[in-house]
Amino acid sequence: MHAYPEIDKDDFSRIPSLNSEFDRVLGGGMVPGSLILLGGEPGIGKSTLLLQVAENLSQQSLPVLYVAGEESAQQIRLRGDRLGIKGTHLYLVAETCLERVLEQKEILKPAALIIDSIQTLYSQNLESIPGSIGQIRECASKLLTFAKSSGVPVLLIGHITKDGALAGPKALEHIVDVVLYFEGERHRNEKIVRTVKNRFGPANELGIFEMSGRGLLCVDNPSQLFLSERAEQVSGSAVTCAMEGSRPVLVEIQALVSQSHFSSARRVTNGVDSSRVSLLLAMLEKRLGLHLLGSDVYVNVAGGLSLTEPGVDLAILAAIMSSFRDRPLPGNTVVFGEVGLAGEIRAVGFPYSRVKEAFNLGFETAILPKKNLPLNESLESFSLVGVSSVGECLGHLDGAATRAGINDGEDR
Ligand code: TYD
Ligand code: MG
Repeated sequence: MHAYPEIDKDDFSRIPSLNSEFDRVLGGGMVPGSLILLGGEPGIGKSTLLLQVAENLSQQSLPVLYVAGEESAQQIRLRGDRLGIKGTHLYLVAETCLERVLEQKEILKPAALIIDSIQTLYSQNLESIPGSIGQIRECASKLLTFAKSSGVPVLLIGHITKDGALAGPKALEHIVDVVLYFEGERHRNEKIVRTVKNRFGPANELGIFEMSGRGLLCVDNPSQLFLSERAEQVSGSAVTCAMEGSRPVLVEIQALVSQSHFSSARRVTNGVDSSRVSLLLAMLEKRLGLHLLGSDVYVNVAGGLSLTEPGVDLAILAAIMSSFRDRPLPGNTVVFGEVGLAGEIRAVGFPYSRVKEAFNLGFETAILPKKNLPLNESLESFSLVGVSSVGECLGHLDGAATRAGINDGEDR
């Protein structure tokens, strides 16, 4: 038993991985004795990331034990060469038996233990095959005991497929201290790691990387990356500023509205919640009298990011309306705000951070909830347009487009 005021808060002095994005998703580095799960689809970059992290620890003279159950030590060495790894204090063991892994750590006394992957590990105590839920749970709980008793952080790699066919790692979410998932598609160069759970820091934090010929590079300016392929002056595109964890990120939302050839119109979304889009469409029908029932609507977030916060609602609507009327939005404008069912625009968190990010990237105007104004600080030569309803927002965008001489579509 501990008296509350006597509990030592500073019990965890974090071990920095010196990988800025990885440290960010962990909340500032690895907490000693923590069990960290890194999940994602096969081939997305899990082994690459943790090998790079292992090298960073090794460079701080911290010994790392890397348990390779999927690849031989030679294969890992090959990957390491590609990554420019020296591995002075890195030890590899190709082993799948948990008990034997735990013997190794006795000999080495590592500062961090990496298991690649939890699905290949098995405990002699159970008869079931490696990768079965029973084995995954047993191995994870043994490793948890090891982590807590020794103070050594343990990083587990877990494979997850989109359809959840290998749902094993999901079953570990409640056992481990930190859950990180690679998001998005495997073939993209942008790689996004999201904190789904963190007992020692904020959840929902994003780490953004770019896969290169020499491994994963930290992306310091994600907004620039996500906007890099934006085509100017096309209809159906709107730029928003979303708060992802503690940082604002500018992203392009694309919409395509077309006459449906199906008996029931299609609603396909990528990176935003499809039920949220349906709801916004229903609101447009009801409040603005738009007839979208017979149209297919596709919404996509460029760059493979998944947006979950309501502040992006207004940009989704703006992109849909722009495609519907085939009228491009002004290219220098960002749009953000939560949309209510009555068509009202609700205030969002961190308006100044969002506006500042847009300003830094050369935007000139923000359309934002009137309720968010005035901002605490002002930005010179950046115009803020407060709107309180969807109609007001669309009216402003129309006016701005006309002033900019953009009108290459028929108004419907
Ligand atoms: P990997 O880390 O092995 O994925 P996982 O462990 O999640 O299954 O590799 C991911 C992909 O990245 C693989 O297809 C090869 C590619 N890659 C690069 O593009 N550059 C590199 O420097 C490395 C090491 C891998
Ligand atoms: Mg791997």
